[in-house]
Amino acid sequence: MSGPERITLAMTGASGAQYGLRLLDCLVREDREVHFLISKAAQLVMSTETDVVLPAKPQAMQAFLTEYTGAADGQIRVYGKEDWMSPVASGSGAPAAMVVVPCSTGTLSAIATGACNNLIERAADVTLKERRQLILVPREAPLSTIHLENMLKLSQMGAVILPAAPGFYHQPQTLDDLVDFVVARILNLLNIPQDMLPRWGEHHFGVDD
Ligand SMILES: Cc1cc2nc3c(=O)[nH]c(=O)nc-3n(C[C@H](O)[C@H](O)[C@H](O)COP(=O)(O)O)c2cc1C
Repeated sequence: MSGPERITLAMTGASGAQYGLRLLDCLVREDREVHFLISKAAQLVMSTETDVVLPAKPQAMQAFLTEYTGAADGQIRVYGKEDWMSPVASGSGAPAAMVVVPCSTGTLSAIATGACNNLIERAADVTLKERRQLILVPREAPLSTIHLENMLKLSQMGAVILPAAPGFYHQPQTLDDLVDFVVARILNLLNIPQDMLPRWGEHHFGVDD
């Protein structure tokens, strides 16, 4: 199996709930164990942007997401915002990689300063301190100097900043194509197989030879 077997997926309250849901679906299909965290704001965004309404309690949410994605029992583990005893809260238990998608500017700032005021912030802090893979997918426009400084700081600490900014050179026909563009980039970084977007040089995107 290429790429990490266990991944922390955190969804926060930036626009783009579709990216997080699609990534969850892809990770399940690739037989990964997903440790799933979601903020209150992300749940509001999700119900605004999609038809998915998550149950509030972690256990019910876990059952819902397991059925929604067709995951095996125990493949998706959902933790509450103050579940400090969960594996993601410590370097000895946390997965090798963490993706925050979408990543709000609020959570971006909290991670950049090491706030650790909820489990998402703590899990990201652990990922950084253990020098593991942290991928952040922010969405905001325009970006303030504060946002840019936080991104620079996090990039210098080893995090990857992958803006939710799909390209158009693959000639997207649907919204799903745009979502897949960003999710494919995340999977490429994780070294997890994906067939949604050819790697550059493997395909001539609409260019006649
Ligand atoms: C519908 C909706 C869309 C939002 N879009 C964004 C966004 O694109 N980027 C962002 O940084 N915040 C956005 N926000 C604001 C965040 O949700 C808000 O700052 C929140 O405190 C973030 O909390 P969290 O980081 O705990 O998820 C949006 C909020 C709502 C309700």
